[in-house]
Amino acid sequence: MKPTVAPYPTTRFRRLRKSAALRAMVREHTLTPDDFIWPVFLMEGTNEENAIASMPGVTRKTVDRVVLAAKEAYDLGIPAICLFPYTAMADRTEDCAMAWSPDNLTNRAIRAIKDAVPEIAIMTDIALDPYNINGHDGYVVDGEILNDETVEALVNMALAQAEAGADILGPSDMMDGRIGAIRAALESEGHTNVSILSYTAKYASAFYGPFRDAVGASGALKGDKKTYQMDPGNSDEALRLVERDLMEGADMVMIKPGMPYLDICRRVKDSFGVPTFAYQVSGEYAMLKAAASNGWLDENKVMLESLLSFKRAGCDGILTYFAPQAARILNG
Ligand code: PBG
Repeated sequence: MKPTVAPYPTTRFRRLRKSAALRAMVREHTLTPDDFIWPVFLMEGTNEENAIASMPGVTRKTVDRVVLAAKEAYDLGIPAICLFPYTAMADRTEDCAMAWSPDNLTNRAIRAIKDAVPEIAIMTDIALDPYNINGHDGYVVDGEILNDETVEALVNMALAQAEAGADILGPSDMMDGRIGAIRAALESEGHTNVSILSYTAKYASAFYGPFRDAVGASGALKGDKKTYQMDPGNSDEALRLVERDLMEGADMVMIKPGMPYLDICRRVKDSFGVPTFAYQVSGEYAMLKAAASNGWLDENKVMLESLLSFKRAGCDGILTYFAPQAARILNG
């Protein structure tokens, strides 16, 4: 029903904006630390962190340092952390076998975090790119990204992560059929309570540039990911993908990137009413950081305003590199 608006001066919208108290009373959307999933980058070694030039303030961390980060996140009230490995060059091969090794970087980190901070939810990334010699999310043969063969590998990767103790699996590869295959394997192997947060509407976006630097994939990647990630011109297709992923067993869905795709967030939430997440990706983070470091934008203010926009667009939560910084402010 459309609300009625009596004409001025009966209605004066400024009445409810006149003080912080009144603005707070009628505010429709708010942010809390439990809206955040914090993506972190892993690397080999001990007690070390490396800066990522295109993502100021974000580092790659050794497993022991990621455990400290998980502890920090938990103390800040952030419910989940999401792991991305910067793999050694020797672990990147054509068959991507390291992707499902129980002892790969991600699986070692999962066990270490579960040991030290059992309360925090651990989310993973499922895609072959960190272990693939050519930087693609799937197997490449004669320049083609193979779908069904890749799905088999992704299932192995998912099972290894579930075995290590992951709570939430995040298939980010955009192969067809992967959610159903992963769900069936989880059920048959007894991992009935592992959830899937599907990267459902993942667009072939230039906003992932800094992330590819962070995981060392920029140099390796030949070509682009347009044959498997979505075309930025499409919106109806996102709804069909959400329906497909839900039917195949996804518990939650994601839209990625975030701010340039808030219209998709709104459509997905309105159409399905399922737990809906957006990923404020590396390029979005880099833009805000760059402008702030030039003194052109107020960093904390644009950070919180950008994160709030996701809530307004219907999202239940946001994957964001700003998670700890935003949580600190929200906690006062
Ligand atoms: C790879 C993956 C990417 C991101 C998350 N998982 C990059 C890509 O698809 O090339 C991007 C995250 C970001 O930009 O912050 N499977």
